[in-house]
Amino acid sequence: MTIKWISELEIGIPVIDSQHKRIVEYINQLEHARQARSAQEVMDVLDELVDYTLSHFAFEESLMEEAGYPYLNAHKKVHQLFTRRVSGFMQRAKAGEDVTNELLHVLKAWLINHIKHDDRDYSEAVRINMEMTTGKVKARKGSWFSRLFG
Ligand SMILES: [Fe+2]
Repeated sequence: MTIKWISELEIGIPVIDSQHKRIVEYINQLEHARQARSAQEVMDVLDELVDYTLSHFAFEESLMEEAGYPYLNAHKKVHQLFTRRVSGFMQRAKAGEDVTNELLHVLKAWLINHIKHDDRDYSEAVRINMEMTTGKVKARKGSWFSRLFG
């Protein structure tokens, strides 16, 4: 079964929501490759999915850090544990084992749960920080300094 993107998965930060959507698309592509019984396609999609997800994690972590999110380290740990779990699957897959069913199950369950809980938890801190940063840029443009010397 493929995952349907529903508004409950949105955390209200457009750049993150679109990355999460992309990850969901990768998982659905993986499901498609599994149904097509194409081992090569499965491995190709998996490689891309893992690559994309790792850079997404790094991006999320940088936003949380900039926002001074107090549970950054705990969230990083969750990302690390998941990464280790997935690389275990990858090793088994590269050794010739068919892990697709098990992996798809884990990916779907983990991702949905992570977005709904862990990611939603940082969303407010990150959103406020983003708005403040944008506000600062605007204030600077119209500041007394820019009016005098701009
Ligand atoms: Fe996350």
